[in-house]
Amino acid sequence: MKIKIAPSILAGDFSRLGDEAEKVEKAGADILHFDVMDGHFVPNLTLGPQAARDIRKRTSLFIDCHLMLDNPDDFIEKFAEAGTNNITFHVEVVKDVRKTIRQVREAGANCGISLKPDTSIETVFPYLPEIDMLLIMSVYPGFGGQDFMPESIDRIRAAREEASKLKIPLDIEVDGGINLETAPLVIEAGANVLVAGTSIYGSSDIAGAIRKLRTGQVP
Ligand code: DX5
Ligand code: ZN
Repeated sequence: MKIKIAPSILAGDFSRLGDEAEKVEKAGADILHFDVMDGHFVPNLTLGPQAARDIRKRTSLFIDCHLMLDNPDDFIEKFAEAGTNNITFHVEVVKDVRKTIRQVREAGANCGISLKPDTSIETVFPYLPEIDMLLIMSVYPGFGGQDFMPESIDRIRAAREEASKLKIPLDIEVDGGINLETAPLVIEAGANVLVAGTSIYGSSDIAGAIRKLRTGQVP
């Protein structure tokens, strides 16, 4: 599958988010990853629909909205209206996963499901045929700049094996601690969408960082 690189704007400068979106678009990013945190599901606060709407005006990149919220159902329409293209919610918080999937689709967005590192990967298997993307967290969600958890590799591999068994071309996205050392490992295990915050926005050569992450090039 084509490897897609999704810079996480969480690692950008929040005083000039539009510029940060433009910067990674020009540097060859495939997707813009937009982290939404509520201070309850995760111990941090980030961005809301207004920021999404304003960033939407500054980039034509596909915007991948990662809802780290206790109540994603209350915000799906708002982020879809703001112009985000994919909405991912966490499987741990919704009462009826299928109902939330339907809600995302009815709002007109692609649908992703995510899970925290301690949630068993099998939890999401029943839903794989119904979603566009599975987002496997490779750190405890809440903050950028954390170290990749190596046990994520087996989880990625298990999810890709399940998708292959079901014969579905599922996008498997990995989020947390992705850099030039960990990218080749997750690609080899079957991930094809790589979120990277620190290793892209922290680089002095953003285009080079994106290119090397995509090719899984070992430094
Ligand atoms: C963490 C967020 C990530 C974060 C990744 O909770 O979901 O998207 O921005 O940042 P890095 O790449 O710095 O680990
Ligand atoms: Zn994220």
